[in-house]
Parts: sequence; structure tokens; C-alpha cells
Amino acid sequence: MTDPRAPEQIAPDALTETEARAELERLAAAMEAADRAYHQEDAPRITDAEYDAMKARNAAIEARFPELKRADSPSDRVGAAPAEGFGKIRHRVPMLSLANAFEEEDVADFLGSVRRFLGMDAGAPLAILAEPKIDGLSLSLRYEDGKLVEAATRGDGTTGEDVTRNALTVDDIPKTLPGGAPAVLEVRGEVYMSHADFAALNARQEQAWRDEQAHRRAAAEAKGKVYEPTGAPRTFANPRNAAAGSLRQLDPTITAQRPLRFFAYSWGELSAPLGKTQEEALATLRALGFTTNDRATRCESLADMMAVWTGIEADRAELGYDVDGVVYKVDDLGLQQRLGFRSSTPRWAVAHKLSAQTATTVLEGIDIQVGRTGALSPVARLRPVTVGGVVVSNATLHNEDYIAGRGSDGEPIREGRDLRIGDHVTVYRAGDVIPKVLDVDLTRRAAGAEPWTPPTVCPVCGSHAVREEGEAVRRCTGGLICSAQAVERLKHFVSRNAFDIEGLGAKQVEAFHTLGWIAEPADIFALEKTHGPGTMQKVANLEGWGEKSAAKLFAAIDARRAIPLERLIFGLGIRHVGETTAKMLARAYGTWEEFDAAMEAAGADLSARRAALAAHAAAPEDTRPKKPEMPETPAWDALLGIDGVGEVLAVSVVEFFAEDRNRAAVARLVAHLDVQEAEKIAAEGSPVLGKTVVFTGTLEKLTRAEAKAGAESRGAKVSGSVSKKTDILVAGEAAGSKLKKAQELGVQVMTEDEWIALIGG
Ligand code: IVH
Repeated sequence: MTDPRAPEQIAPDALTETEARAELERLAAAMEAADRAYHQEDAPRITDAEYDAMKARNAAIEARFPELKRADSPSDRVGAAPAEGFGKIRHRVPMLSLANAFEEEDVADFLGSVRRFLGMDAGAPLAILAEPKIDGLSLSLRYEDGKLVEAATRGDGTTGEDVTRNALTVDDIPKTLPGGAPAVLEVRGEVYMSHADFAALNARQEQAWRDEQAHRRAAAEAKGKVYEPTGAPRTFANPRNAAAGSLRQLDPTITAQRPLRFFAYSWGELSAPLGKTQEEALATLRALGFTTNDRATRCESLADMMAVWTGIEADRAELGYDVDGVVYKVDDLGLQQRLGFRSSTPRWAVAHKLSAQTATTVLEGIDIQVGRTGALSPVARLRPVTVGGVVVSNATLHNEDYIAGRGSDGEPIREGRDLRIGDHVTVYRAGDVIPKVLDVDLTRRAAGAEPWTPPTVCPVCGSHAVREEGEAVRRCTGGLICSAQAVERLKHFVSRNAFDIEGLGAKQVEAFHTLGWIAEPADIFALEKTHGPGTMQKVANLEGWGEKSAAKLFAAIDARRAIPLERLIFGLGIRHVGETTAKMLARAYGTWEEFDAAMEAAGADLSARRAALAAHAAAPEDTRPKKPEMPETPAWDALLGIDGVGEVLAVSVVEFFAEDRNRAAVARLVAHLDVQEAEKIAAEGSPVLGKTVVFTGTLEKLTRAEAKAGAESRGAKVSGSVSKKTDILVAGEAAGSKLKKAQELGVQVMTEDEWIALIGG
């Protein structure tokens, strides 16, 4: 009888010979595909555990049927783990490093020591070739009879790694040389990656990662589970790492897909000289098919050398690849020979480093990021430049004043220089700090460059973006409908003092939002409807959920359809509207309908009030009345007449409701709710009406919540801290600093019993 199952489901020791052969073939193909995905596409398709399971199964089948072992058996292949490494190559001429110079004085010292060593007069002519110092990794290429036979990394300078097969894949590296090349020629230079290629490679790495995540997500969802993203894209920190990582690949087919380049600038063993000077030698190398750097410049003096350095520093951002210094080399190769070497550096050359922590580049744009609280932050989009070893393409611009050249108190920064798109700017980065735009070079500003103007609408949701008096940040008013703010707002909406939906905490809100199930509060109440009768089952299938918890969640949502007005107002997450304010508003207006109508009326007058405020601010100081003359707006008067409601709060609330999309989102929410009328303020006759009360110390008869509710229901405002505005301090047992402060301020202090007596039990 044949086994009805597919061979892959049968245990190795139960397979027939035919099935075993088929299985070995399937496993070889599957593992080869997995290897390719892992090594060449940098996008693993299966987990390490799945790979290991296949390997184990393959080995078990081979152990049972050794005669069936394939020539291309995966057991003989290097699997997911990297192999031992590269072969070693001993450099016939050591690969040395360079001494560093940091300042002009160091460069002058270099010239002085060269002349002294050679017995030249201080002013004697001395030609120097200045070359950019490429920030990549050095490579030595050995040609014999015009054929590339060996390529080696620098290693420890004496012995390097054999990367010949990888070097053969780099376009800039000739594989054969034209006739006339020395029979033995070791060409040395730098392998590097251009900024553009680096950015594209990282983008590909990210895409590969996203594809892999999508693949895994699909697999998880097919099993009815929610997929949590894992790991991170394998991107490189900077072009040098990318170049090194790409060259030092055990599999040269990966190197072949990486955009590596090579500049030749030096040599090792030679059977015939390349010229009389460094400049001539570079020309010979070019004639042989190598690429040399076109910024190499012959210098006759210290001033010439400094001019090259300054020029390269200034053009750093435009070169398109990383440089970290300028190498000055004595041009005459005969003199180089005489100068020779110290223990590890040549006497005939020095590397003049470029400044490490700042770089100049072009401000290509100003992007606006919207934070969770709706704050708009400007971010500089820069032409990529390496600062301190990391490619920087974004930097913070703090806020719009910073761009305008003003500090937080209106004082000038950068001597008042503003930043404009297209400007050449200095970028600073140190350690892990977020890069900053420090300064601007006005001499390089384009004639038509316009000052930057902040956006008046949110780039994410299109709602008005406003900057309040005295605030440094501009904020999006799109609260509920702005996706940048949505998740945080939703978390607030379900929080304990707002809708308090059991089973729907911050984590669940995140998950449901990611799934696209809830984007605004109304969606929570429509969850069951929108997602059909199977919604409960869908929730139950999510990781961390079961049937019971899903059923509970829907019951908890239903339980909150009846909601006190104050919780609704607080839950909307309007700026400046805390729990106490929400309560005050609820009590002042009583019903949702009344509150809603009042906000609509106040909103209609918003622009008239704004115009009046602006006119007041614009009037000359000596003629300006103390208070702006406001248009008559009964809705505002009522709002501002509420005890504890000031201008800032009023504007914030009215603005929220004046945004059409907020109103619509609130209307969608309220349609699901039965908003309960607020408890009217027990106004008349209350001895504490309008008073501000602070409770401190341990209360014996009342819980804090009771004390607060009792005071508020009698028209008092409860505060957490003592100030001049405090009317009564109720001091319990072991009252401390608040009691002291109240006494200092002459605030009325009473015991818990006195308080109870005052409010009438
Ligand atoms: S000449 C005897 N020229 O800088 C040393 N080196 O810090 C001859 N480098 O290992 C080196 N650009 O990787 C030279 N134009 C250039 C260079 C350069 C980059 C690197 C090279 C070297 C390191 C020394």
C-alpha cells in the first residue's frame, strides 16, 4: 500500500527509496533557494529554524540512504552561517598608513621636515601633489603579464585577505592591462561607494526587508494570526561600511551586485617605474585603464596646499563620495625614494584631515513632521553628506523661529541669518545626537532665494495649523482626523478618566489601528458593524486574544455607549482641556446639544475675534488701548464667563470645534452614544461656590475622590497645588509643604472636620 501522504510529511525512517530520492531533490532545491535569498538577495524567505529543520531532515534521509546522496547535497554546502573566511595574502611591499595633520601648522611642519631631511633650504622649491583622501578601504591589485592575479585588502599592513574573486566583479578594476604594462605591477587604491549608490543600496535593503516582512505576514495571517514585525532592514551606516561589507563577501556574486568603485593612487611591487613624479605615475595608471581622482592638484607652496584643502572642504557635499582629508605627497618619486619610511608611515606624505563633526551641504528642502500631539516640526532635507562617519540627509531645524534666525526670546541667532531652501548650510553631528543645521553661508545664497514661510495647514491631514501667542510650535488642529495624531488620541480616548473601555488599552489600540480597524473614536463603536458578524471571531483570532476576551471587549464597548458629558468632552483630547476643565464645561452647558450649539456659535465668530486681536497687536504701542476691542459675541461671553475658563482655553476649544473635520468626527462618534446630562452645579447657597480648594495630608473620613467630588458638586474647584489663588486648604494628618505654603500665603486652613461641617456633611 502506498502512503497517501506527500513524501515531505513522512518521517525519514518511513520513506521508500523512491520517496527518499524525491525528498532529497526537493530539499536540495528548497535549500538552494533559501541560500540564495539569504546571501544574495539579503532577504531571507524562511526562518533559521525552518532552515535548520530542512538541513536535519536532509541529513537524516542521507544517513538512511547514503547511496542517494546527491552531488549537490546541501550537507556539503555552506549554509546560513558564514564560512571560515578568506585566504591570506602576504604583501610583498607593506601597505602602510599615513601620518595626520590637523592644522596649517602641522602641514608647515611636514614641509619643514621634508626639506630638513633632504638638506634643502627653507625656501627651496618643492613640488607637492595634493590628492583627496578617499574614505573607503584600501586594496592592492597584483597584475602579472597584464593579468589581474591577486587582490588583497590591507589587513594588518603585512598580510591581507584574498578578495581576488570579488575584485574581478568591480567595473573600475581592469581585469587585463594593455600591452606595455610592467610585467609585474601592484596597483593600490581605494574601494568606495558613491553617495547615490549608497542611498540606492540602502533603499534596496529596506525594500528586501519589507518584502520579507510582507511574506511572513501573509504566512502568519494564513494561519489566522497577527504578525508582529521582527528585526530591522540590513542597511549600512555609511558608504565606507557599505563598501567594506560588499567587498568582503564570501560569495562574489553578491559583490557583483553591489555598486563598488575604485580610485588608483599608489603602487606596491613594480618591475618597471611608472614615471618620474607622482603626477606622471597617476597619468600612466590612467593610460593603463585605471580611474584616478580628478581633483589631484600640483602645489608649489603651503598656500597652494591650503587652498586645495579649503576647496575640497567646501565642495565636500558635491563630490558625490566621501573624503576625509587631503593627502599631500612629495611629487618627485626620486625624492620619495630618498625620504623613505618611518616604522609605519612614509616620510614623503601626510594626510591633512577635514573637520570631522561639521560639514557643509545644501539645504534641499524643509519637511514638516507632525508629532503625536500635533506639533509641527520642521526638518531639514539635506543633500547627503557624511558627518562624523555617518551620512546625514536630515537634520533638525527646531522650530520656525530657528529657521528665521530668532531664538526662543526673540533674540537673534546666527546674527539673525535666516535659512532658505537652496542655501549652503553647516551641519553638525556628534555621537548619537540628532544632526543640526548650525549656520548658513550667505555668500553662496542664490539671488532669487526666498525666505521660508511656515505652512498654515497640516501636511498630513490638511487641517489648519496654528501657532498660539507665546508658543514656539505650530500645531495641527486636526486632532481627531489627523493620522499622525490618531493613535495617541485614541489611547487618550479609551483611557481611565475618559471612556475607560475595559480590554482596550494602549497596546490594543495600537494593534487595532495598525490593522486599519480603528482610525477615529467612532470606529470603536462601529467595530462590530463595520467588520461584520464575524468581527468577534476576528478579534479572538488575534495574538493575545481569545473568544472570552473578545466577547468581553464588545460588552465593554457597549457599556460605554451611555457616557457622561464630561467624559465625552475630556475624551476628545482637546488641548488644554483636562478632566477638571471638561467637568466645568459639562456643568456649564449641561447637555451635549447645548454645548455643541454654543461651540458652533463661538466658532462662527472666531475669525472676527482673530482679526480684532491682530489689529490690536499691530496698532502702535502708544495709541493702543490696554485691551483689544472685541466684536460682540454672546457665545464667547458665555464661554469666558465660566469660572476658570480663560482666553487660551476658550480659543483652544472653539478652534477644535471650528475645524469642520473635527466636528464631523465628533458627530460620527456622538451618533453612537447616549450622552448623559451633566450634574448641574449646586450653585445657590453653597458656601464654597467658586472657591479653589486644595486637599493635603491624610484624610480620615473621606477618600480623596470623595472629597474632590463633594467639593466640586458644591461649585468649588479642586486644585493640586497651593498658590495665591487658593481659597481654602483642607489639611489632613501629616500635612507638609502645602500647609506651610498656605500659611505663608495667608490662605484659610481648615481641618477635615471643619470642612465637612462647612459643606454640611
Ligand atoms: S597614499 C603609504 N593616497 O588613507 C601609504 N592613501 O591613512 C600610501 N587613502 O590606507 C597611501 N586616499 O586607504 C593615499 N589619495 C590617497 C588616499 C589614501 C585614501 C587611504 C588609504 C590609506 C589611508 C592612510
